[in-house]
Amino acid sequence: MMMRCFSVSVTFGLVLLCSLVCVVSGIGANWGTQLSHPLPPETVVNLLRDNGIQKVKLFDADYGTLRALGGSNIEVMVGIPNDMLSSLAGSMKAAEKWVATNVSKHISSNNVNIRYVAVGNEPFLQTYNGSFLKTTFPALQNVQSALIKAGLSNQVKVTCPLNADVYEAPSGYPSEGDFRTDIHDLMLAIVKFLSDNGAPFTVNIYPFISLYTDANFPVEYAFFDGNAQPVNDGGTNYYNMFDANHDTLVHALQKNGYGNLPIIIGEIGWPTDGDQNANMEYARRFNQGFMSHITGGKGTPMRPGPIDAYLFSLIDEDAKSVDPGNFERHWGIFTFDGRAKYQLNLGTTNSGVLIPARSVHYLEKKWCVMKPSARLDDPQVAPSVSYACGLADCTQLGYGTSCGNLDARGNISYAFNSYYQIHNQLEAACKFPNLSMVTKTDPSGWKLHISDNDSAILWRCRKERANRFGCGLYSLGTNNSVSFEASDSSSIIFP
Ligand SMILES: *[C@@H]1O[C@H](CO)[C@@H](O)[C@H](O)[C@H]1NC(C)=O
Ligand SMILES: *[C@@H]1O[C@H](CO)[C@@H](O)[C@H](O)[C@H]1NC(C)=O
Ligand SMILES: *[C@@H]1O[C@H](CO)[C@@H](O)[C@H](O)[C@H]1NC(C)=O
Ligand SMILES: *[C@@H]1O[C@H](CO)[C@@H](O)[C@H](O)[C@H]1NC(C)=O
Ligand SMILES: *[C@@H]1O[C@H](CO)[C@@H](O)[C@H](O)[C@H]1NC(C)=O
Ligand SMILES: *[C@@H]1O[C@H](CO)[C@@H](O)[C@H](O)[C@H]1NC(C)=O
Repeated sequence: MMMRCFSVSVTFGLVLLCSLVCVVSGIGANWGTQLSHPLPPETVVNLLRDNGIQKVKLFDADYGTLRALGGSNIEVMVGIPNDMLSSLAGSMKAAEKWVATNVSKHISSNNVNIRYVAVGNEPFLQTYNGSFLKTTFPALQNVQSALIKAGLSNQVKVTCPLNADVYEAPSGYPSEGDFRTDIHDLMLAIVKFLSDNGAPFTVNIYPFISLYTDANFPVEYAFFDGNAQPVNDGGTNYYNMFDANHDTLVHALQKNGYGNLPIIIGEIGWPTDGDQNANMEYARRFNQGFMSHITGGKGTPMRPGPIDAYLFSLIDEDAKSVDPGNFERHWGIFTFDGRAKYQLNLGTTNSGVLIPARSVHYLEKKWCVMKPSARLDDPQVAPSVSYACGLADCTQLGYGTSCGNLDARGNISYAFNSYYQIHNQLEAACKFPNLSMVTKTDPSGWKLHISDNDSAILWRCRKERANRFGCGLYSLGTNNSVSFEASDSSSIIFP
């Protein structure tokens, strides 16, 4: 069980105990909101509370989200998106306004337990081509100055969640760790600044991505079962990639004179769909393994002790860009509508299992499917499917994914229905020329699992040949506020 540190101190003894052992107040979770149909923030806050998740990391400072967190005592890391960095870097006034609106006000009027401001999100990723190299550090400085001016700098710390690609170890041994050469000076300036201000270094570590990008990556090394051939770093054996990667950072910090800088794992997790290695079994194994790994407070070879971490992610986000890969929309330990995907013991509840979201409202049970009379060789099929997938979500179709074994009609229906549900079952969204129809009965040949609630529409296609996890099509009865980014349907083969 994780210790929780109650901020209301009853006795000095408790305070002392806490200062010794309550460095980590349990596992945190990332709460992303790029969904076509987000759950109401109050529902998500209840989900966090029901599951004993005491810390949450956000990617922006949405008013409704923060208001829902008010009074919950859940520790909050608010986020500043990368596209705001340049304005905050360029203007102290803008930073003060940001802090006043998005931090001070929520602490004072809404009783939100804001503890960190995440300035930018992985701004030095190599795919950004250096777009944020000039603005991240000045934005960090301005936000910190604004926090000081607002009298909040003891309570609220700045940090900058970085991808693990900001440091490297040329031949893979953690002890070789140092910051990437192209950003070495910048990293040192940031690290010094964090250290001077008592702020933590935040890093996102993803063994899944290593496996995804490198076909020769030793699978077992991604997990925590100790089955991998260890990496022997001058006598220290590393049995999993997380420890090795984490300690590469510790070495990089140490080498540059900041060996004691606190580290937060800003994101860690495993997706369940959209790639052959993204499945329930691996995700459960990784996340449960990580929880067991950190629960004893053993830490890593270079940093024994508790590890402060935020799982990525709480809920699936069907409107995320699939540029990184089709798995990008499937990182949640919960589905988009708050159902537990697999058994995971976070050590925070008595039952030891994930508790689903309560009082979720759905649209009617109806679907848009391919008409039985429509022909597979109709020339409109391919453009219709590609249109639907481009604007909806077909990431559960494809090699090795949960709906990868559907037949041709299944594929086409999946695409049509995804488009239809994302458009809130609008009649006009099921008008694929002579190809589609709305049905209230289970489409033939499909095994449907409809959730027990009458108002629910939850279509889990699980054809006998389809793999063991099934796939869901759905619609929540709320409209989206995010624009849908086109998905790459090129990897999906349709007749
Ligand atoms: C507060 O945060 C929101 C959400 O990230 C952002 O849209 C808004 O511009 C911020 N307010 C100010 C005054 O910067
Ligand atoms: C980065 O550069 C590459 C190649 O020049 C380009 O294709 C890509 O769109 C750029 N990305 C960004 C975020 O600017
Ligand atoms: C199911 O629907 C009923 C209304 O028909 C509602 O009262 C109930 O809260 C719903 N249950 C869930 C789990 O959503
Ligand atoms: C259905 O789509 C999947 C994923 O693209 C593909 O592998 C499969 O071959 C398709 N099935 C048929 C019968 O076209
Ligand atoms: C739909 O089918 C009808 C009758 O088969 C045909 O006349 C019409 O042109 C078709 N429409 C489209 C858009 O293909
Ligand atoms: C969603 O938005 C559209 C257009 O803004 C509106 O017509 C529709 O009624 C909304 N649906 C729901 C479920 O709120």
